[in-house]
Amino acid sequence: MSKRAIGIDIGGTGIKGAIVDLKKGKLVTERLRYETPKGGTPHQIAQTLQDLIDNLPNAAGLPVGICFPAIVKNGVTMSAANVSKEWIGLDADQLFEKELNRTVHVLNDADAAGLAEAKFGAAKKVKGLVIMTTLGTGIGTALLNNGKLIPNSEFGHLEIDGVDYESMAAYSAKERENLTFAQWAKRLQKYYSRLEALLSPDLFIVGGGVSKEHEAFLPLLKLKTPIIPAENRNSAGIMGAAHWARKNTIE
Ligand code: BGC
Repeated sequence: MSKRAIGIDIGGTGIKGAIVDLKKGKLVTERLRYETPKGGTPHQIAQTLQDLIDNLPNAAGLPVGICFPAIVKNGVTMSAANVSKEWIGLDADQLFEKELNRTVHVLNDADAAGLAEAKFGAAKKVKGLVIMTTLGTGIGTALLNNGKLIPNSEFGHLEIDGVDYESMAAYSAKERENLTFAQWAKRLQKYYSRLEALLSPDLFIVGGGVSKEHEAFLPLLKLKTPIIPAENRNSAGIMGAAHWARKNTIE
């Protein structure tokens, strides 16, 4: 049985993809990146995915896993926090299968990152409740209990001080408001303390591009729960999505 799959990570600004060797937990091709089309409608995105797959070597017959910033239940995208509202209620599995002419499995982006950490990274063999958080345009969360994903948690939208706290504590808020790491860390402190009070996790993992600068903000947080950077950084979504595709493909 081949242990390869294509993983694609759709984000608000970029669409990234590669072929993944799931036995080794490694990308076996270059990571290709395309701009997310302005508007981010389903059809535009499907066309970009087609270009991306056409440019991957030896991609014939491989299943495709796609992660996306929305709640995804049975292949249907149920929300659209930072993408076109056309995605709400859309059967994304079916649309992509038709447009790409391949087997496709779609899942939430933070869930994909969490799966990547559970299989190949910082959550490997960790017992108890791990909360993976991705700090990017929004805040994504994945809950892993004894390594098993509880899908579609949306704790990025936790309401604190009367606001959807993703708008205060996502990396995009730091950028938009020109916050220093110390200023941003105060908001993260509030956010992770609330998560900790509500869920009593055993470990927090912090992903998203900014996690490569973890030394600038993680040591500023005072929590009971250990908080560590993700290991799979830029490729977490791709690896988790590829794993998901292979897991859901009956051979
Ligand atoms: C969305 C989540 C997503 C997260 C990270 C949030 O705004 O609601 O579904 O996982 O952003 O992209």
